[in-house]
This record gives sequence, C-alpha cells and structure tokens, in this order.
Amino acid sequence: DVQRTLVLVKPDGVARGNVGEVLRRIEAKGYTLVALELRQADEALLAEHYAEHAGKPFVRPLIEFMSSGPLVAAVVEGQRVVEGFRSLAGATDPTTAAPGTIRGDLARDWGAQVIENVVHGSDSPQSAAREIALWFPAL
Ligand code: CMP
Repeated sequence: DVQRTLVLVKPDGVARGNVGEVLRRIEAKGYTLVALELRQADEALLAEHYAEHAGKPFVRPLIEFMSSGPLVAAVVEGQRVVEGFRSLAGATDPTTAAPGTIRGDLARDWGAQVIENVVHGSDSPQSAAREIALWFPAL
C-alpha cells in the first residue's frame, strides 16, 4: 500500500553537502517527494521527535547535534516506502552500514558521542504518521 515516511538529512549531511545526493537516491529509486524544507530544528521539536528515546544516555547529545545547524526535512511517498527508505539508508552504525547505502557510502564514525549518520527515516508506518504530523502539521 502507498505509504509516507519522514526523511531528515541531518546537520552532518547538510554540512558535508550530501543533500543533493540523498534526494537523488530517493528520486532515482522512484519515490515521490511530497514536502521538502530546509530548516533549523529547535530543541522542543526534537525532544518530541525523539520521545521514544527519552531517558537514554545519548538523547542530550543527539538533540544538541540535531539542532547544531540546518537540516532538511522531507516527506516521501511510495509503496512500502517506510521499509524502502530504511533499505536505502542502511544500518544505523555507519562503520558497518553496507556500501551502496546512504550511510555506507556517505557516513563514517567521527568519534562523536552521538552517531552521526547523515539521514533519519521513520521506523514504522505508525512512527511516520506521528513524525509527519510533528514536522509538517499542514500535510
Ligand atoms: P536514528 O535511527 O535516525 O534515530 C536515533 C538516533 O540516535 C540514531 O539515528 C543515531 O543518530 C542516534 N543513536 C542511536 N543509538 C545510539 C547510540 N547507542 N549512541 C549514540 N547515538 C545513537
């Protein structure tokens, strides 16, 4: 069935010039962009976005990292796109993410206490609905 997912090009990806490459891969795969915005996320939005990680030791550095500069937020649509974008993104840990994936090709471990891995993709259709409502309330 047709789904939507929230994709973020994180501040590391924007700073390193990966926006075009990430969008190219999404479009090359055949998915459709339905919303796209460069923005500076504030801590309140990010605390809600990462609510399921509340209390974990990496949440504070994660929110600091995610608010450290502009990011690109996008809503992407297609059949099974939630699973499909996670496949394009690759594993969370960029050191072991498979070559050919966004994280495998564009990210690495820089020694930061938070994993900097260029992109976020919603992990389930339920998460996608919650995240899209948060980032793009008008959709
Ligand atoms: P993402 O899967 O998009 O959402 C949660 C983020 O938290 C994840 O990407 C990483 O950036 C970060 N993260 C997850 N697990 C850890 C961890 N164990 N240590 C540091 N950062 C993490």
